[in-house]
Amino acid sequence: MAATPAAVRVAIIGCGGIASAHAAAYRALGPDLVPVTATADTVRHLADQRAAELGADFSSADYRAVLERQDVDAVDICLPHHLHAEVAIAAARAGKHVLVEKPMACTMAECRAMVGAADAGGVVLMVAQTQRYMPSYRGVRRLCASGELGTIRAVRFDSMQNAPDLLAKEHWLFDGRLAGGGIVISVSVHRLDLMRFLIGDVRRVLAITRRGTEPYRNGAEDYAAAILEFANGAIGEHFATYSGFRLPYSEMFMLLGSDGAVHALPPTGKGSGPAFFASRARQDAAARGKGWDGQFTGFLPVPPDAAGLPAGDNAFANEIAHFATCCRTGQTPDSSGEDNLGTMKAVFGIYRSAETGSWVELADL
Ligand SMILES: NC(=O)c1ccc[n+]([C@@H]2O[C@H](COP(=O)([O-])OP(=O)(O)OC[C@H]3O[C@@H](n4cnc5c(N)ncnc54)[C@H](O)[C@@H]3O)[C@@H](O)[C@H]2O)c1
Repeated sequence: MAATPAAVRVAIIGCGGIASAHAAAYRALGPDLVPVTATADTVRHLADQRAAELGADFSSADYRAVLERQDVDAVDICLPHHLHAEVAIAAARAGKHVLVEKPMACTMAECRAMVGAADAGGVVLMVAQTQRYMPSYRGVRRLCASGELGTIRAVRFDSMQNAPDLLAKEHWLFDGRLAGGGIVISVSVHRLDLMRFLIGDVRRVLAITRRGTEPYRNGAEDYAAAILEFANGAIGEHFATYSGFRLPYSEMFMLLGSDGAVHALPPTGKGSGPAFFASRARQDAAARGKGWDGQFTGFLPVPPDAAGLPAGDNAFANEIAHFATCCRTGQTPDSSGEDNLGTMKAVFGIYRSAETGSWVELADL
């Protein structure tokens, strides 16, 4: 493990879109906890701007320059997906802790090499799976763990948006060679990770994907449908679209147990996370009406769980604060690289199944 400083000094590598949300989180947490000491972006003025905004003394167009610096304890990788493994491995070899944006990388071999490099370097490797750091989802997780929902029997969840409405058609996210795929690796990865966080690992998958026309290229799929079986026996259904006609960003979600159910209240794409409503046999019997109309009553809000999340609804700040704690103490992150191998197996399992037309056992990946 690298030296244990009072503050964890961070270099942001990649100063584009999501780095804005990370920068706001660094500002919210403050320089006593996570000072940003360096930035890097091949578009030099973006690195300079981000450095000026966050009070960093050093900026560069070359990420390797920040890895050489003594005043950098950790890197925050906000790069296109095809660069995640290369930069994370170089950082771990330089003795820097690594926070890498989702998805971890573009192949299982790359993901495993990242874990190996972090272990060899004695550094923390954490994947920025933001949804794990939202109090609303933690509330659902607590409810699942409490046993009040009984045996979890099924989940239904989706990832829906119209990306061509939001991004320039040249964007790298539309290019399968740079993104590692399409909607599944870029967006479903959030939901697959969340389902694992809520109810445990996926055992096997059967999937169909469809590739879009321009701007989608080099194999990027813009539709996917998958059936999943979880290790606990629950069955799951996932639907994803990247080009739903006039479809606002939306992430629906339904979880069915033997003694209760949880539903996200739409629309769920905006803000810091969805509100959830649950119906539970033990708690809600009195609140529930009778007959046909009664079916629509008796749902109670699921209280959010902000324990260990110092920044309330700011999931990016919660995530970065957790990363800093892990760097300082050696604690294993909730979304460690090792843990996220399971999420990436679900992603690549969907891709393999779509190619072969057969069930894929994730243990084989
Ligand atoms: N958690 C979330 O909700 C969320 C949302 C959006 C994006 N992301 C993830 O964040 C990551 C970055 O996505 P983005 O939307 O910010 O992309 P972006 O294109 O806006 O930003 C990427 C930046 O990396 C820079 N860059 C490219 N190659 C580089 C190199 N070799 N060295 C240094 N800089 C380089 C680019 O110039 C650009 O400024 C991706 O992994 C993406 O999936 C996460």
